Amino acid sequence: MHQEILESLETAVALLSQDRVIRYMNPAAGELLGVSVRRIQGTPILSLMPDVDAQLAMHSVQQSLTLHDIPIVRADNKNLRLTCTLTPVEVPVSGWVLEMTPRDRFDRISQEEALWAQYEASTLLARNLAHEIKNPLAGISGSAQLLARQLSSSRQLEFVDVIIKETTRLNNLLDGMLGGNQPAHWVTHNIHAVLEHVTQVVSGQLPEGIRLHKDYDPSLPEFVMDFDRLVQVFLNLARNAIDAMHGAGKLTIRTRIVHKMTLGNKMHPLVVAVEVCDTGEGIPPELIDAIFLPMITNKSEGTGLGLPIAQSIVHQHGGLILAESQKGNTVFRVFLPLTHEKENNDWGSL
Ligand SMILES: Nc1ncnc2c1ncn2[C@@H]1O[C@H](COP(=O)(O)OP(=O)(O)O)[C@@H](O)[C@H]1O
Ligand SMILES: [Mg+2]
Repeated sequence: MHQEILESLETAVALLSQDRVIRYMNPAAGELLGVSVRRIQGTPILSLMPDVDAQLAMHSVQQSLTLHDIPIVRADNKNLRLTCTLTPVEVPVSGWVLEMTPRDRFDRISQEEALWAQYEASTLLARNLAHEIKNPLAGISGSAQLLARQLSSSRQLEFVDVIIKETTRLNNLLDGMLGGNQPAHWVTHNIHAVLEHVTQVVSGQLPEGIRLHKDYDPSLPEFVMDFDRLVQVFLNLARNAIDAMHGAGKLTIRTRIVHKMTLGNKMHPLVVAVEVCDTGEGIPPELIDAIFLPMITNKSEGTGLGLPIAQSIVHQHGGLILAESQKGNTVFRVFLPLTHEKENNDWGSL
């Protein structure tokens, strides 16, 4: 009965006895490690994972313990890095349960989950804050306008004018954060039509030293999207890339299809991936974890709203933007699932 449960798990699990010998391995683990689960029974863990063996030999693990970055060479010579968790057990044998997760997958899932959670938390904060500020701001601006009518001294009027101008500026900024309240406009379209529109707009403003390179997968199917909003996403990304290159470099726009990808707890069989790559200065390391938050910018004229708005629009398409950057090579990857239930609420706002 218990064994049946283990057999059906997608998680790779093995059972080790006190003498550090593999007593059982489920099919998921066999597949992960590239071994036959029947033949591996009775083999010392030393021959497969010396690091895990050493840990058990030295510390005779009494509590659950996670080991990161355990290297494995599979029978087919593929290198693999695993995150391994050891938990002491008494039944069916005295020993340990060993759970194994491929590190890359582990990293990617947690990175996506973290971004998704960060996005939702910051959205809520920004939106509430913007609403809270708008009400008193309307009061200040209204009162200043009334006051202006009462005043006759031009010097005093000048001051009140500053209040009116600055409250208007703040109000516009907050409207930018809250987005327009226009409903979504869903159409079936090809992503390349979006990208062609964007590159056309961008090439008009492209500095001479920047080359534009397109690498499209022409077989990408059409999907349901808000065309104008996706144009805004890729315009924001392309403009950031151009800004980062300071007049010289290469801007690459690449499209690919990705099979089986989990986005926001949902598995999508097919996802369109669009990469916007530049050879610019790179995202400052101290900003990389925060660039999708509102108001994060290192530009004197920047608003810090381009990326949060882009992330918001992609989120409404059921997708996600991930960024990876080092000096000379920055990639923004936009993942858009081909099938997604569209929502009509709060469209395109933060
Ligand atoms: N391609 C890129 N290369 C380097 N840094 C980038 C890139 N894209 C975004 N950034 C960083 O992220 C910040 C936030 O971008 P964004 O939200 O579009 O706001 P803004 O462009 O107004 O600064 C930028 O100020 C910049 O520091
Ligand atoms: Mg920007």
